[in-house]
Amino acid sequence: MNKEHGRTAVRSIVGLVGVAVGAMLPLAAAHAAEKVKVGLMLPYTGTYAALGTAITNGFKQYVAEQGGMLAGREVEYFVVDDESNPAKATENANKLVKRDEVDVLVGTVHSGVALAMAKVARDSKTLMIIPNAGADELTGPLCAPNVFRTSFTNWQPAYAMGKVAAERGHKTAVTLTWKYAAGEQAVNGFADAFKGAGGKVLKQLTLPFPGVEFQPYLTEIASLKPDAVYVFFAGGGAVKFVKDYDAAGLKSSIPLYSSGFLTDGTLGAMGGAGEGLLTALQYADGLDVAKDKDFRSAYAASYKMQPDVYAVQGYDAAQLLKSGLDAVKTGKLEQGAMIKAMESATIDSPRGAFTLSKAHNPVQDIYLRKAEGEENKVVGVAAGKLADPARGCRM
Ligand code: BEZ
Repeated sequence: MNKEHGRTAVRSIVGLVGVAVGAMLPLAAAHAAEKVKVGLMLPYTGTYAALGTAITNGFKQYVAEQGGMLAGREVEYFVVDDESNPAKATENANKLVKRDEVDVLVGTVHSGVALAMAKVARDSKTLMIIPNAGADELTGPLCAPNVFRTSFTNWQPAYAMGKVAAERGHKTAVTLTWKYAAGEQAVNGFADAFKGAGGKVLKQLTLPFPGVEFQPYLTEIASLKPDAVYVFFAGGGAVKFVKDYDAAGLKSSIPLYSSGFLTDGTLGAMGGAGEGLLTALQYADGLDVAKDKDFRSAYAASYKMQPDVYAVQGYDAAQLLKSGLDAVKTGKLEQGAMIKAMESATIDSPRGAFTLSKAHNPVQDIYLRKAEGEENKVVGVAAGKLADPARGCRM
């Protein structure tokens, strides 16, 4: 065979193969769904590291339960450690959106980081699911069709705790938190309910995030002598605060209340200092929810530890994404159809089933819990089917 004949033969074989593949394509396309690229932007270092890991574990547990796929699509992960650092948030989110071209951003824990991340999502029209950060604005004035949350607003558990503190007969309170969106909004939520019921907030104390030098604040609380103290802390900082509050002798004299982040996933490390604390949160140990029992045994088997609220919120982020993907079974991820399906989804959560508000935030029960050993045992419902007021959201 001369070179020219050889080339012609090769061309015809390629042509034949091309025709054959072409003939098969419509069939193949009808069955094969594009994979879904998930960008996990979460803290894996710093005071919120354990929270980021729990969210990741929960998300992956749900995917594993679906046979490693979501709605028949392979899941490809792209992961960034956001360090809970708002200064790096835009760059980190852009890495996932522009470099990795993810279909959905899942993140994050820290409200300040989430606000920057959501701006990238809004500007690039990337679907975003927030599995923790409570910044009220994200489902308030900055709400957007492509931004969803499976966790809470900072207002929700704090408002429920303010209501309980007032019901328990306290008339005055001092608040203490890190000075950033989550802490300040939690304190406002507490004050909304506490003042609404006739209580008075004597002073709102703050320290920079993620500072843990609590001593001067504890001294001031002791001298103000309020009926109650309300704080917002989470992760490693929460452990240090509760130990310091106890060591200062305040735990026995001034009741300490908080959104449940104070004691979720942290009681073991507190070594008994958290015993008996009352907190309010959208999850608790000992819930009478069938889904929770299965979730907890599967989580314990996979990760050799008990799940916490963060693991639940990660699990539910994956469930919400699946609801969207179910609406676009094959081919392209048509965002309009996904959003519509996600908006009307009922999430079968371990916390109890919930739906989303018009602003895309869970409408959910906020439980009152009491710390016993390493568990936040459910005591009752502090605020049933609580929806965030979503002030300023126009959608
Ligand atoms: C936040 O920054 O929104 C946040 C962080 C940890 C626990 C709860 C909320």
